[in-house]
Amino acid sequence: MRNQTAKLDLIILGASGNLARMKIFPALFALFSQGLLPPEARFYGLARRSLSQEEFREQIMRHLTCRYTPEHSCAVHIERFLAACRYCRGDYRSPDGFAELGSLLRPDRNRLFYLALPPEIFPAAAANAAGLAQNGTDGAWTRVVLEKPFGRDRASSDRLNRELLRQFSEEQLYRIDHYLGKEMVQNLIVLRFANQIFKPLWNSRYIRCVKIDWQENIGIEGRGDYFDHYGIIRDVIQNHLLQLVTLIAMREPATLTADAVRDRKLEVLRAMETVALGDLVLGQYAAAELNGRKIPGYTAEPGVRPDSLTPTFARLRLRIGNDDWREVPFIIRAGKALAEKKSEIRVVFRNPESNIFCTRDRCPPANELIIRIQPDEGIQFNIVSKTPGLKMRLQTKELDLSYDTAFADTVIPEAYESLLLDVINGEKALFIRKDELEAAWDIFTPVLHEIETAQIKPEPYAFGSSGPEAAREGICNNE
Ligand code: BG6
Repeated sequence: MRNQTAKLDLIILGASGNLARMKIFPALFALFSQGLLPPEARFYGLARRSLSQEEFREQIMRHLTCRYTPEHSCAVHIERFLAACRYCRGDYRSPDGFAELGSLLRPDRNRLFYLALPPEIFPAAAANAAGLAQNGTDGAWTRVVLEKPFGRDRASSDRLNRELLRQFSEEQLYRIDHYLGKEMVQNLIVLRFANQIFKPLWNSRYIRCVKIDWQENIGIEGRGDYFDHYGIIRDVIQNHLLQLVTLIAMREPATLTADAVRDRKLEVLRAMETVALGDLVLGQYAAAELNGRKIPGYTAEPGVRPDSLTPTFARLRLRIGNDDWREVPFIIRAGKALAEKKSEIRVVFRNPESNIFCTRDRCPPANELIIRIQPDEGIQFNIVSKTPGLKMRLQTKELDLSYDTAFADTVIPEAYESLLLDVINGEKALFIRKDELEAAWDIFTPVLHEIETAQIKPEPYAFGSSGPEAAREGICNNE
């Protein structure tokens, strides 16, 4: 058990919002019920709504699950957890709004502020939180967790950073990208560097292309106001999926320390070319009828402008201009309202130049390594095998490490559990450093501006389909 001796007051700003209710409190409870948080930790929620303590606790309780503790002892944990939760009503923008909170925080405790707020409120809320920061005299720390979006482009992201860095140091800021907390994403570094077999193969000599496929089978689910202002590239590609590319493409760090790992990721980001408009297909979901039910298209969603050109789908090619990857396209395909929900990385190996199994016009298919991030976490390696029988016939079969069976008795933690524990322990490897964020925006800012200035019209695709026509043909360096 880690960190049992530290003392903690954890403050969630935006405590009545979806993120707090659905992700943050359940993750805190999961850690609490396993005894992973400091004893006597308290959880303060601040929001504008008027809520009694009972209503606040009731809201939290609805989303707690007993994944780590048997049902009978879980009730006791829930009761203790809720007793440690306390609500304060307040306006994020005014120092007065923080007065009640300030009077409740304990003097000698570490303070962790979680800004589960829309980004336009970050600077004001951070300034008010800074007014409650520990001054460090008795060794107590103050840390601040931020959720994306970190700006809309390089300039707005820089502005936001400047404002936050007026109140806190870079060391105190924890920029969350929750994909880095996912179990399978944390496994990428292990897969690549703890298994000797992959090391010599991991470059353009053996790898033909890398595909990252991210699909959701739901629309924007009431988040029209936010999504219409950002679109799919800013929502998941510039952050979550780009982070996956860095973990696939980075060289082996000298150590596992936060800066050694983030330096390696930064090298990849800095070697990446800016995305070209010609390498992009954009789409927007349209109305459809599914199982006899009429489903509205994107522009009919609440909060979305009826003439919106915001893409809900994008396919693009990233190029990394270094010796390891110059010839290898990284193809990202991401979309809302598609046929299924999945996130996976597919590493496609090259066909050998000569192979005794090649006939005049056909060679056995290339090997593929597939990393299934969700759902159904697993690692699959497609190999060519002899089909049993008296003739020499070949077929592709899968070596499959499915988490369901390989780790049947293990609870797979939610990303937020892992990330919150890291913040409490001061571990920064899974958080985005300022220079990484800047480099990530540099890759996308020119094309995002070009799309908006030229008012590029996304190609419509039916809700529940496999995306726009133009994005269906393969672009994986066909050999
Ligand atoms: C969020 C995006 O960052 O990630 C959402 O804003 C998206 O649009 C979500 O649905 C996906 O997260 P997960 O963990 O469900 O894959």
